[in-house]
Amino acid sequence: MEGSKCFLNLMIIALYLSYFVQSLEIGETCSTSSQCDAGLSCQSCPANGNTGSTCTRIQPLNPTSKVNGLPFNQYSWLTTHNSYAITGVNSATGSLLLSPRNQEDSITNQLKNGVRGIMLDTYDFQNDVWLCHSTGGTCFNFTAFQPAINVLKEINDFLESNLSEIVTIILEDYVKAPNGLTKVFDASGLSKFQLPLSRMPKNGEDWPTVDDMVKQNQRLVVFTSKKDKEASEGFAYQWNYMVENQYGDDGMKEGSCPSRSESSSLDEKTRSLVFQNYFTSNPNSTQACADNSSPLISMMRTCHEAARLRWPNFIAVDFYQKSDGGGAAEAVDEANGRLTCGCDSLIYCKTNAPFGTCDAPPPKSAPSPVAGGKDSSQKPSNFPAGNADSTTIGLSSLVMISAASLLMW
Ligand SMILES: *[C@@H]1O[C@H](CO)[C@@H](O)[C@H](O)[C@H]1NC(C)=O
Ligand SMILES: *[C@@H]1O[C@H](CO)[C@@H](O)[C@H](O)[C@H]1NC(C)=O
Ligand SMILES: *[C@@H]1O[C@H](CO)[C@@H](O)[C@H](O)[C@H]1NC(C)=O
Repeated sequence: MEGSKCFLNLMIIALYLSYFVQSLEIGETCSTSSQCDAGLSCQSCPANGNTGSTCTRIQPLNPTSKVNGLPFNQYSWLTTHNSYAITGVNSATGSLLLSPRNQEDSITNQLKNGVRGIMLDTYDFQNDVWLCHSTGGTCFNFTAFQPAINVLKEINDFLESNLSEIVTIILEDYVKAPNGLTKVFDASGLSKFQLPLSRMPKNGEDWPTVDDMVKQNQRLVVFTSKKDKEASEGFAYQWNYMVENQYGDDGMKEGSCPSRSESSSLDEKTRSLVFQNYFTSNPNSTQACADNSSPLISMMRTCHEAARLRWPNFIAVDFYQKSDGGGAAEAVDEANGRLTCGCDSLIYCKTNAPFGTCDAPPPKSAPSPVAGGKDSSQKPSNFPAGNADSTTIGLSSLVMISAASLLMW
């Protein structure tokens, strides 16, 4: 009798276990993000006709995880457009904020999810430098998000606690105050990490290698859109180093990848960084999941042709977490696969193997997980960890319920 009671008890525990410790893979039906594997979130994409919620990627693989030590310009970095314009935040002035929003989580969280390109709009405001989304180069209370130093400090904290990470800041810069940028970068602590101008190649040569940037602790690359700041303050003028395609709706017309007016032509190889924009003129969180899916990857291939067979070093999107499955993370993995190891995605690269040595992709005919429900038998996780607390919550409730069921027995 004792034995069968014990067996029943174990069965009940096993049942609870299968219910609470679901660890669902990409594409599997879910109701909350905590059910999904690390690096995934539970979302639907009605704009693509997917009304049911499935586990969806929000984190790219670490670009340097398979092949380290290449020049900075041989990696691709996930980039958020208007990184600071976050849904639900108010203006630090206390005013109503009328500017559109492009992202949904804090800079700290973006960095945690593998975002490595941060796009900020900097303005003179209230005798300081602020992040605003305005017109005519003037910030108003109702277009002012917050003082730039707050966000720069978040980036500084990240670089201080993650000693092998590299971050790029791209400034749409309206600051005219003398040494305005220098002061706010100094005050945030970030200046100590800046890669100096003298190490940035001016004629399309390779950038320093990522491991050298890590070794020298020069793990922050900053670009400004203001030309004179290169001479006056030592901030790199973006268009001396980078080519970029058209942003907004005009950059989303299938089959063509024009360059934006400030940039040299995309095929200009004296600029060794390639930056790809892919977001609508008016940010639209409902549409973004569709845009960040196959059209993004398709445009990446079009721009690759336009940029003389160069894959983008930066892939900039709105609502970077939104997609119908792989999203911007998958696009960045594809670029890194092609850049670092010659495979279709970084997922198929072998660690430190010769260029072109690839793992075979899984067979395309695998049973469709969307229709398949909640089978959670074998779950190899290819994705970087990040969402550990969800598992912890699942486990602790499991322990409590198991304990309760033992007592009840
Ligand atoms: C803008 O906000 C500041 C507080 O940050 C306030 O002192 C000022 O009166 C506001 N200006 C206007 C025009 O509302
Ligand atoms: C960054 O550092 C934090 C704190 O040490 C750690 O939890 C996190 O995993 C690190 N992230 C990366 C991308 O290395
Ligand atoms: C946002 O996108 C959705 C889905 O494509 C569309 O129905 C809606 O009209 C768009 N909203 C705006 C303001 O353009």
